[in-house]
Amino acid sequence: MSQALPYPSAPAQSESRSVLAIPAFRKLWKSMAFSSFGDWLGLLATTALAQELAGGNYKKANFAIAGVFIVRLLPAVLLGPIAGVIADRFDRRRLMIVCDILRFGFYLSIPIVHNYIWLYTATVIVEAITLFWSPAKEASVPNLVPKEKLESANQMTLLASYGSAPVAALMFAILAGVAATLTSISNPRYASTADLALYIDAISFLYTAWVVFQLQTIPKGAASKSAVNDNIGKSLIDGFKFVSQSKVISGLILGMLGAFFAAGAVIGLARTFVGDLNAGDAAYGVLFGSVFTGLALGIWLGPKIFGQFSRRRIFGISLTISSAFLIVLSLVSNLVLAILMTIFLGAFAGLSWVTGFTMLGMEVEDEVRGRIFAFVQSLIRVSLVLVLAIAPVIAASIGRHQFTINNVHLRYSGAAFTMFGAGIIGLVVGIFSYKRMKDRPNISFFSDIMAAFRGELGGITGQAHKGIFIAFEGGEGSGKSTQAQLLKEYLVSVGETVVVTREPGGTVLGKQLRKILLDPKTGAISPRAEALLYAADRANHVFSLIEPALTRGDIVITDRYLDSSIAYQGAGRILLPSEVARISRWATESLTPTLTFIMDLPAEIGLSRLDSVDRLEQEPLAFHERVRREFLNLANVDPERYFVVDATQSVAAISQQIQERVSTIPLLKINREKAQK
Ligand code: TYD
Repeated sequence: MSQALPYPSAPAQSESRSVLAIPAFRKLWKSMAFSSFGDWLGLLATTALAQELAGGNYKKANFAIAGVFIVRLLPAVLLGPIAGVIADRFDRRRLMIVCDILRFGFYLSIPIVHNYIWLYTATVIVEAITLFWSPAKEASVPNLVPKEKLESANQMTLLASYGSAPVAALMFAILAGVAATLTSISNPRYASTADLALYIDAISFLYTAWVVFQLQTIPKGAASKSAVNDNIGKSLIDGFKFVSQSKVISGLILGMLGAFFAAGAVIGLARTFVGDLNAGDAAYGVLFGSVFTGLALGIWLGPKIFGQFSRRRIFGISLTISSAFLIVLSLVSNLVLAILMTIFLGAFAGLSWVTGFTMLGMEVEDEVRGRIFAFVQSLIRVSLVLVLAIAPVIAASIGRHQFTINNVHLRYSGAAFTMFGAGIIGLVVGIFSYKRMKDRPNISFFSDIMAAFRGELGGITGQAHKGIFIAFEGGEGSGKSTQAQLLKEYLVSVGETVVVTREPGGTVLGKQLRKILLDPKTGAISPRAEALLYAADRANHVFSLIEPALTRGDIVITDRYLDSSIAYQGAGRILLPSEVARISRWATESLTPTLTFIMDLPAEIGLSRLDSVDRLEQEPLAFHERVRREFLNLANVDPERYFVVDATQSVAAISQQIQERVSTIPLLKINREKAQK
């Protein structure tokens, strides 16, 4: 089931900033950012150290790196659920401080001992400690932040955990430069990048401990029961059962795994791949950072740039594109190009990831949403372990190879081959999930792209509102007005405040414009003048009636809106639909309906239902057929926001379908109350 998204899922900038204005949260956030920074730096350092300790042996290096990833992820998979429960028993603040001091000590010991056994042992221990630290941290956030800010607090937490990755990568690259300088003036044994990074990493945890120590506001004692970690096995089984029932959701989850697969392959193989390009630790840091920079760009900018496409389409396509970049990356033998490819790869992987997550939130019903998210998270963890561990092993077993084509020597090694293979898998998964979720069999993706460039698609959303905005569209005599009225009665009966209005003529000015526009006595109006008059009516309508009602939190039902202009003045007359759409978007400041019903009816039937004919109804049948087709096209572009109703059915049957669709809008009072329980 698809639900309309009444507001963009991310809160406005100012909102997410304001949660940092709470001093206690800001401190905790700082400590989270620092400790994540330390975590990432530690990951880079330990994998680099694993490569360094292999002493130039390709196979050994790959196996060693796989080992680091396995020991890092395994504790989470095995101990995750238990750690959460145990962590809940202790005083959170003290637990966090102890954990950080321990992590400081263990990270410090890795470069001092400087061998494989201790590298792995210490890494496992540090990871296990982190498992206790995280739930304690997570449980502290609701104590420091008021409820309504919790969502933006969570976003800031995410920003701290992943935003710190490129910073750590940059730091690592700089340290590589420092290490090179140190090596030239002193004993190389004391100047490896990995060692320097590990020392800094250790210090970052000491700092975190200090920050938390100062945070007196975290209440003493154990956390109230937190549901942070569910049992991973149980959530997997439950999730599989549910997911296999829905084509869209299973396609979605498969695709999200594909995105992680592509990004994971790059991360797991990055160190050896960089070595194959004859580059060192500095390049490793940069490449690693590019994955995350790309991911961040995709998550942040992607939905803005591609907001006009249907999410179902973006999802499969961006996954496919990201995999294609992985394939290209595997073929590149130039570091600068490789970095560029990595950023693109990350950006499209990030785009498909957010799109997937947003869709999951909309496609999955309230009652099972928690379970599905837990399922996806478990699945991602397990598949990451697999990819990060298996990819280097495959790379090692392939080894290094040289090819000579027309006297050109090409060197490809295991890392490149494995990336290539992962890219192919991602490509297949992407195409598969695109096909599985394909919503408009008749419209090619290419025509979508062209339409988007012309600014023609209807998906751009304006400001977020408390209220719900519903539009009825359709040809002549399609029964919009009747259904708008019936929907109002239904919504009022479930306790909503509803405003029913229409276009043209929803306001005092609108009534006069309506008279001009529809009266046959007006005679011919130039197409552009007609478009502008409808837009003027709409601008006034939005400004003085719709917008204020939505701000109050009411439900506004309008009989015709923007799509009528696109269909009548655009497709019907000789104007370009894109131009008409642009005028209306300007007029309405991009206020887009939460949901639009298209009452679909053959033009002949609709026209035969009319008693009198106004100026537009006098148009020939072909005009009305064009209008009908345009409405259907618009609906096809964005199935989440449009619902096409077969208007040849009985009034009662139509009304029933409309009620069912409207009942799924999350912003409805009844749905919000259900969600709170
Ligand atoms: P409508 O209110 O449905 O009139 P009636 O109830 O008499 O059918 O629509 C008025 C006419 O205005 C209709 O023929 C469609 C036309 N129209 C446009 O051409 N462009 C627009 O933007 C709108 C809102 C309506």
